[in-house]
Amino acid sequence: MSRVQYLLLLPVLLFASFWICKMKFLDAAALLPVLPAFASPAGLERPNVCVVKASGGNDSAPAIIDAFQRCGHNSGENRGKVIFGNETYHVKSIMNTTGLSNVDIELHGTLLWDTNIPYWLNHSLPVGYQNQSSAWLFGGENIRWDGFGVGTLDGNGQVWYDFINGTNNYPGRPHQITIAGTKDSIFDSIRFVQSQMWTMTIIHSQNILLEGIYVNSTDTKQQVGFDFSSLNTDGADTVYADNITFRGWTVDNGDDSISTKANSTNILIEDCDFYTGLGIAIGSIGQYDGVFEIVENVTARNITINNMRYGAYFKTWTGVSSGYPPNGGGGGLGYAANVTLEDFVLKNASGILAVTQCTSYNSASGNCDTSKFHIRDLTSRNWTGTTTSGVMADVQCSAASPCTGVVIDEMDGIVTTTNSTVPEIYLCDSVIDPTGFNCTGEPWEENPRR
Ligand SMILES: *[C@@H]1O[C@H](CO)[C@@H](O)[C@H](O)[C@H]1NC(C)=O
Ligand SMILES: *[C@@H]1O[C@H](CO)[C@@H](O)[C@H](O)[C@H]1NC(C)=O
Ligand SMILES: *[C@@H]1O[C@H](CO)[C@@H](O)[C@H](O)[C@H]1NC(C)=O
Ligand SMILES: *[C@@H]1O[C@H](CO)[C@@H](O)[C@H](O)[C@H]1NC(C)=O
Ligand SMILES: *[C@@H]1O[C@H](CO)[C@@H](O)[C@H](O)[C@H]1NC(C)=O
Ligand SMILES: *[C@@H]1O[C@H](CO)[C@@H](O)[C@H](O)[C@H]1NC(C)=O
Ligand SMILES: *[C@@H]1O[C@H](CO)[C@@H](O)[C@H](O)[C@H]1NC(C)=O
Ligand SMILES: *[C@@H]1O[C@H](CO)[C@@H](O)[C@H](O)[C@H]1NC(C)=O
Ligand SMILES: *[C@@H]1O[C@H](CO)[C@@H](O)[C@H](O)[C@H]1NC(C)=O
Ligand SMILES: *[C@@H]1O[C@H](CO)[C@@H](O)[C@H](O)[C@H]1NC(C)=O
Ligand SMILES: *[C@@H]1O[C@H](CO)[C@@H](O)[C@H](O)[C@H]1NC(C)=O
Ligand SMILES: *[C@@H]1O[C@H](CO)[C@@H](O)[C@H](O)[C@H]1NC(C)=O
Repeated sequence: MSRVQYLLLLPVLLFASFWICKMKFLDAAALLPVLPAFASPAGLERPNVCVVKASGGNDSAPAIIDAFQRCGHNSGENRGKVIFGNETYHVKSIMNTTGLSNVDIELHGTLLWDTNIPYWLNHSLPVGYQNQSSAWLFGGENIRWDGFGVGTLDGNGQVWYDFINGTNNYPGRPHQITIAGTKDSIFDSIRFVQSQMWTMTIIHSQNILLEGIYVNSTDTKQQVGFDFSSLNTDGADTVYADNITFRGWTVDNGDDSISTKANSTNILIEDCDFYTGLGIAIGSIGQYDGVFEIVENVTARNITINNMRYGAYFKTWTGVSSGYPPNGGGGGLGYAANVTLEDFVLKNASGILAVTQCTSYNSASGNCDTSKFHIRDLTSRNWTGTTTSGVMADVQCSAASPCTGVVIDEMDGIVTTTNSTVPEIYLCDSVIDPTGFNCTGEPWEENPRR
């Protein structure tokens, strides 16, 4: 070190030693008020630890947004924390808390969404896909959110299930939360109940683990039916998402348990218990005319299916574009490749495995052979349990792009509830060189399921 550098540093060293001596006689909290740049308004809180105060019956959204603004943007060396106590936080307005970094979130209580339907229809924020919208945009990097098995997001969804009265994808109906622009993050032991619509969409995100998540969107008024009760209450949807793990989920709902949509890659779904809804969905995809989208490297394993429509199903739009998303579309390009579905246990499933390339505007029929979206290397292996169906698989691929590399094997642990025989029917259209099974006929009907 040169003499000049030493002279410049001297005042700094003197100032620092003054503070170090002084600190011996003061505790750290007492020091905070004299460091205004680092002190929080609450005074004695550590500067980047925020405890969110519930606003009684009033809107807690401003306090939540404020807490994330103050404590949600940190360096890796000095992580922040946002703590929700064991209270009910009423949420009466939209929230956008994206761009967070290095923050731990503790949720001990409940966020309860308000039921002012006209407000949400007019204010919900765009998700960025399918013209869908959301009550809360959330995201960032290096986030760890723990709900300890009790922290709950409650969408108060019954009012929405009553209100939409069977209308698919009601415009402006909000998803509960959208995890957007998120990387290297963990969501642990959080509960999501009575979601207004889809529970969560994970979009423009990568390297996320969601573990021990409980989702239950049960319509307590309308009867369970596959087109009506809790319609559009998907457990989770991935869009433009890479390396996402869903482990140890419970989902009870009226639609897709977990759905991998446009550009979902390297997705693992394991050790899950699904109830009532439609099953694991690959798609829908191929909705945007001429746009190339993919699903690749999806594994689902050790999945229990309780009283559901399918174990798993694929759905692509037809090659004929009609109308606009969310309810219209078609003509999309791309592929779904390397999807492995293994170690499923079915309990009273009404269907087992299905592929349809017939999805179209408002479930219009026809054009099932027009999709150019290619499904390949789909393996379904080692499923056991009970079903009411005699059809093991209904694989309706498009003649414009026949399915290849379809393996359905080691499925003879499945028996029907009616006569305890293994389902023997494999309905196929445009399936090239099937492995592990022989096609026994053509699909009985078009399956336009969205
Ligand atoms: C949270 O509060 C509820 C009642 O408001 C109480 O029953 C419950 O035990 C509390 N939980 C914890 C972990 O303190
Ligand atoms: C959400 O906030 C971010 C800034 O944090 C902004 O860039 C983005 O446009 C906002 N999104 C919406 C839909 O308002
Ligand atoms: C719900 O829709 C059905 C037709 O699907 C109609 O008969 C009924 O009146 C509607 N109910 C309400 C409350 O709008
Ligand atoms: C995938 O995400 C997990 C976190 O869930 C991370 O540990 C892992 O390194 C990521 N893999 C790659 C290839 O980035
Ligand atoms: C979901 O909630 C309904 C209604 O409260 C309840 O009957 C059902 O048991 C719950 N499902 C699961 C899997 O906990
Ligand atoms: C399968 O998943 C269940 C949860 O549904 C879990 O309890 C069990 O340990 C898992 N089995 C294996 C072999 O990982
Ligand atoms: C989706 O993936 C395809 C194939 O990798 C790529 O060409 C396209 O740009 C991606 N789209 C988006 C919006 O990321
Ligand atoms: C298929 O995906 C799995 C992960 O889901 C991966 O381990 C495997 O290497 C992939 N196979 C190919 C041929 O890409
Ligand atoms: C699928 O997995 C294989 C093997 O791990 C990898 O080489 C390939 O890049 C993955 N595909 C995508 C789209 O990430
Ligand atoms: C088949 O699946 C069952 C149920 O998940 C599992 O217990 C068993 O170990 C699997 N068998 C093989 C050979 O992987
Ligand atoms: C057993 O039941 C299934 C489903 O109802 C049916 O498709 C099949 O033909 C029945 N098999 C026999 C031998 O009766
Ligand atoms: C399919 O049919 C061929 C010809 O009858 C037969 O040799 C083969 O064993 C069958 N495969 C299966 C999996 O049943």
